[in-house]
Amino acid sequence: MRFDGKTIVVTGGALGIGKAACSILAERGGNVSIIDWDEDAGNAAREAITASGSDAMFTKADVSDLLDLEKAIAATAERFGRIDSLIVSAGIQRYGTAVTTTDEQWDEVLGVNLNGAWNAARLAIPYLRAAGSGSIVNISSVQALASQQNVLAYTVSKHALIGLTRSIAMDFAKERIRANAVCPGTVDTPMLEWAASLDPDPRSVYDACNRMHPLGRIAQPREIAEVAVFLAHENSSFVTGSVWTADGGLLTQIGGVPQTN
Ligand SMILES: NC(=O)c1ccc[n+]([C@@H]2O[C@H](COP(=O)([O-])OP(=O)(O)OC[C@H]3O[C@@H](n4cnc5c(N)ncnc54)[C@H](O)[C@@H]3O)[C@@H](O)[C@H]2O)c1
Repeated sequence: MRFDGKTIVVTGGALGIGKAACSILAERGGNVSIIDWDEDAGNAAREAITASGSDAMFTKADVSDLLDLEKAIAATAERFGRIDSLIVSAGIQRYGTAVTTTDEQWDEVLGVNLNGAWNAARLAIPYLRAAGSGSIVNISSVQALASQQNVLAYTVSKHALIGLTRSIAMDFAKERIRANAVCPGTVDTPMLEWAASLDPDPRSVYDACNRMHPLGRIAQPREIAEVAVFLAHENSSFVTGSVWTADGGLLTQIGGVPQTN
């Protein structure tokens, strides 16, 4: 699954799932444009790719800021001459219910997770169109398909991301632009590390997450990135508007104890 001559934009490509996707894309010959608001991590991710002999660029931008992101997408097209695929991995998690979530938290989470994906799509689509075809992959979550307690804004943003994905898929199918979503279970990334750090016993959070997946463990970032990279590649040419769970069986499982006699 080679990406020679192709340019792939990865928002949130500095860390976690996005960073793993950038590594795979670079290993397979792609030109990788990392867009992220974390300058140190973004530069480190770019250097790791260029040190291995592949081509990558990093641009600092906040995906929730359309003008900021516009400059980063334009810089990508200027440097590599085209854009073929977009992987949206920039995302944040905040905690609260319908009563405790503040307006600021709501705006922050929806601004990054939903507006950020819309911004990236609307800026990338003209370039995908110019390339003659393209693929958009939104990293959503199992929390797009079910929910937990105390994650109102996050789960709303991830549900909405499925709607965004399907709308893009319908609106641009005739132009050979595809859009798909990936819904991961728990993944071993800095986001999880941050979430676990909010608990007095962070290790217990990892233990609980490992136990709750039927496969008995959480995912490594590369295991999710492989699914996103497949959807970004022409090998998935008939796949559009789809929602791919990569959750270690989490959403397949019915809770409780079965009656055996
Ligand atoms: N880690 C998990 O368990 C898990 C599970 C399901 C879904 N997801 C989703 O996968 C995606 C990637 O998550 P991750 O675990 O790799 O997270 P992460 O925090 O490890 O990495 C996210 C990256 O996005 C960047 N980012 C965040 N807000 C940004 C903004 N406004 N502008 C630009 N860059 C921004 C961060 O700097 C970081 O580099 C997210 O959308 C997340 O919601 C993660």
